[in-house]
Amino acid sequence: MSVLSGKKVLLGITAGIAAYKSAYLVRLLIKKGAEVRVIMTPSAKEFVTPLTLSTLSKNEVLSSFTNEEDENAQWNNHVELGLWADLFLVAPATANSLSKMSQGNSDNLLIATYLSAKCPVYVAPAMDLDMYAHPSTHETFKKLESFGNIIIPAAHGELASGLVGKGRMAEPEDIIEFLEKDISEKLPLKGKKVVITAGPTYEPIDPVRFIGNHSSGKMGYAIAETAADLGARVILVSGPTHLNTDHSNIQVVKVTTAAQMYEAVHEHYESSAVAILSAAVADYRPADVADQKIKKNDASLTINLEKTQDILASLGAVKKDQFLVGFALETENELENAKTKLKKKNLDLIVLNSLNDSGAGFGTDTNKVTFVTAHNKVIPFEVKSKHKVAEDIWQHIIQEIHA
Ligand code: CTP
Repeated sequence: MSVLSGKKVLLGITAGIAAYKSAYLVRLLIKKGAEVRVIMTPSAKEFVTPLTLSTLSKNEVLSSFTNEEDENAQWNNHVELGLWADLFLVAPATANSLSKMSQGNSDNLLIATYLSAKCPVYVAPAMDLDMYAHPSTHETFKKLESFGNIIIPAAHGELASGLVGKGRMAEPEDIIEFLEKDISEKLPLKGKKVVITAGPTYEPIDPVRFIGNHSSGKMGYAIAETAADLGARVILVSGPTHLNTDHSNIQVVKVTTAAQMYEAVHEHYESSAVAILSAAVADYRPADVADQKIKKNDASLTINLEKTQDILASLGAVKKDQFLVGFALETENELENAKTKLKKKNLDLIVLNSLNDSGAGFGTDTNKVTFVTAHNKVIPFEVKSKHKVAEDIWQHIIQEIHA
């Protein structure tokens, strides 16, 4: 999946001949799963029609502060547009518009929106070779870079003037590749390995029976997918579930028992930056596993259980620089029990689930959690989707590990 998937992309089109390629750029962005809105400078409409762009982007195209042709004209709010965007791409970016951006000369909607935008701004310059080589253009680039804007270098080739040189807008495919690479490299978990456990464990009684629990694995899979989207290399140690993931950053290690989960987690823990144990691990397993199916005989059957290893506590005991997160599922004295677990297992964060809350727990798509931090700070959250809970967890961890 592309890092552009789900991103809100604002495409600014200025008046260069390369504007005809913007239609294709919109298509490529949409194909990558981005949501696209287009703003044009008034003269850009001479090069490509707003109708083409609104059809491809499935959104109205804006080019002025008010819609002049409409008698009920409304103010097009550049501040709202600037804040909406996750990413602002100006392509093609003419020498004139780039210069205005560097000066803050907001005499059109596009530049006003640029001044309001808080997101990363990318520009794909397009101009003739002599304009591209001119010292004032270089000064403009330097100034824009000093604002944190990112220049997508122009390409070498035949120009609209008939001359050959550097100044052509990068091809749409190359712009997409540039964006994907740049975004990936800047992801907050880039270069970090994380290990996550999910799902139940099954502890065999005989060849056909086991002791298990109702965990669906949804919370752990959501945590793994969110981490992968944030750039981490994820080892997902999963007990038996119906879930699957084909995220290219996730390696799934399938296990059945608590003992297998213990082995798999320890194999990866030392080289990991973060470990999050969300699996519902059996605390006890049959002391003896029958070789053959147990036949019914007497009125009752007693199975001797022995303790499994506490994986989370074992990680806490050998913790070095890892950020270690546990879950706690409680039905009474929730906060006190969670705080005790946090200390006893040497954790950096505990995510508390209460079975008393509706919308929380096994099998549901939602969860209601409370964070208890290593400094005993208690942070309660509303009921939300497990994916949103996963985002909250990672946001907290990223803040802590970058602090
Ligand atoms: N856990 C683990 N290994 C076990 C049991 C639990 O790693 N053998 C982890 C779970 O993945 C979870 C945390 O420990 O992150 C807490 O699990 P929970 O069942 O709430 O608590 P326990 O410590 O097992 O204590 P109790 O069941 O007595 O509440």
